[in-house]
Amino acid sequence: APWPGIDAMPLTLQRSDLQRSSHYIGGRWCEAVGGARHDVEDPATARAFASVPDADARDANAALEAAHAAFPAWRAVPARDRSRIVARWNALVLQHKEDLARLISREQGKPLAEAIGEIAYAASYIEWFAGEAARITGDVIAAPVAGRQMLAVKEPVGVIAAISPWNFPAAMIARKIAPALAAGCTVVAKPAEDTPLTALALVALAEEAGVPAGVLNLVTASRANAPAVVDVWLQDARVRKLTFTGSTPVGRHLARASADTFKKLSLELGGNAPFIVFDDADLDAAVDGLMAAKFRNAGQTCVSPNRVYVHDAVHDAFVGKLAARVAALKVAPATDPQAQIGPLINAKAVEKVDRHVQDALSKGATLATGGKRLPELGTNFYQPTVLTGVGNDMEFACEETFGPMVPVFRFDDEAAVVAEANGTPYGLASYFYTRDVRRIARLSAALESGLVGINEGAVASEAAPFGGIKASGYGREGSRHGLDEYMHFKYLCQGGLG
Ligand code: SIN
Repeated sequence: APWPGIDAMPLTLQRSDLQRSSHYIGGRWCEAVGGARHDVEDPATARAFASVPDADARDANAALEAAHAAFPAWRAVPARDRSRIVARWNALVLQHKEDLARLISREQGKPLAEAIGEIAYAASYIEWFAGEAARITGDVIAAPVAGRQMLAVKEPVGVIAAISPWNFPAAMIARKIAPALAAGCTVVAKPAEDTPLTALALVALAEEAGVPAGVLNLVTASRANAPAVVDVWLQDARVRKLTFTGSTPVGRHLARASADTFKKLSLELGGNAPFIVFDDADLDAAVDGLMAAKFRNAGQTCVSPNRVYVHDAVHDAFVGKLAARVAALKVAPATDPQAQIGPLINAKAVEKVDRHVQDALSKGATLATGGKRLPELGTNFYQPTVLTGVGNDMEFACEETFGPMVPVFRFDDEAAVVAEANGTPYGLASYFYTRDVRRIARLSAALESGLVGINEGAVASEAAPFGGIKASGYGREGSRHGLDEYMHFKYLCQGGLG
């Protein structure tokens, strides 16, 4: 083998039954109707190490039938009992966090310690929504006329379709399924083709926690078959809501295709986050914040800073500190306990990072550190990279890099840098570092994004509403608002009471 040791990464789970190789419909673990399967690859070697069913429209339909049939009974389960089932799921996820993390590391590539962190993050959403399930309320409205009672009650929307990405194979699907179950919805789900195993293991634990047959259904499909599966759910009016995390072009397609059946939508799409460091910032804190925000999951995160703006007066000092920290990052397969940056998800991802780096260099950028592929480590490794002297004519300025590259712009004017930061169709996250309270107030209002990190790089939390504006989509995940996405209001007006 060209990379001795990597293939030996043991997928020996403490509970081997958590590595599932069939999909889950109506409470049964089953093969695709057509019998097809697709491979799951290790991104460190691009070699297949497992396979799962390759669903087509027939499997998608079967999942939908099961979810539709299970809805009346599930919505009738008292909220407190639904809450207990979701809480049991949380406990099982935490109990098996090492096995789940191993699955993540193997199919997605992130270092094991980071994968364990992702399980804690996923579980925090499950725990949160177990709590929210027990606190669903509505409004008693002061009636404007005598003899009436007016109520606004919340009801689960019905069957929801969840389509989740590969970058956080546990957290993203957990924060879609947990609120759906809490609200009383039933679910059809499809994980990303690269990372089905973590999702299947989570479903196995949900089954064990007591989620009834038909309430949660999950099919796995290859890139080629995914559109056929999703089309069934898009076209069927019984799917009342679609929740998706992924690219803006796919989100746009899903929004258009949902229009005929007026589905409720949550779309968490691409970003192009600015990260601004003012001359009065605590530079060490800003470097820490940038390292945390940018290099989480090797930069393959929607909220990763994609454009860094540093005030002229502190630019060189900041870049010096940053480049030293970035150069010290340990890039290695997840098998290495010291690994901080794993492989990127696939060859296309590496090609994009390299294209952005080469394009920037060809247009006058300077390399502060990194800038190379690392074929000696495996297939999809790339050096964490810092570029200076960058400009808006470079490809990364309008296309999310989604990898370990930090381009640093220089600026000297607040209004101009805010205009630059907002000068993108996207609006998911922005970050800034300053000690000036008035500036904090000005930028908090002016930045066009759904999340703003102020002297903070690690903004994600189950307690906060996560989501974007503009081409980054709409809908919120997490917080009490995350539950409302799975419910609608019904207004009850009772007359003749006077
Ligand atoms: C994402 O990359 O889509 C979400 C990341 C997060 O939850 O912070």
